[in-house]
Amino acid sequence: MAIDFNHTILWVRDSEASARFLVEMLGLPAPTRWGPFQMVTTENGANLDYADTDGEIARQHYAFLVSEAEFDEIFGRIRKRGLQYWADPSQTRTGEINRNDGGRGVYFEDPNGHLLEIITRPYGSGGWNP
Ligand SMILES: [Fe+2]
Repeated sequence: MAIDFNHTILWVRDSEASARFLVEMLGLPAPTRWGPFQMVTTENGANLDYADTDGEIARQHYAFLVSEAEFDEIFGRIRKRGLQYWADPSQTRTGEINRNDGGRGVYFEDPNGHLLEIITRPYGSGGWNP
């Protein structure tokens, strides 16, 4: 059995701007248009499909595994843009990063309030168990 996570849909106010925000922040290739979606593809071939809605947006959470060097670049962009960031998903540790699993992690929001996270180690890989 070989099952890979393939895609998810992110409901947003402005799919072009929202997809652009993600690729700019993460340093990914430009989004591509497919049907009603602005698609962002990560290194492992999973797609984040941005779709426009005027309705209520249920806030979701998306996490990205990055290298230590990429963390530095992305975290630099977070600070350069003056975005708020947190060490925890409850967003109580403002202006901090975490060291979970012996790596680094940080949370920030996209323009729709979706909670984005970058981590340098997968959850549980360093024995961290909250
Ligand atoms: Fe997470």
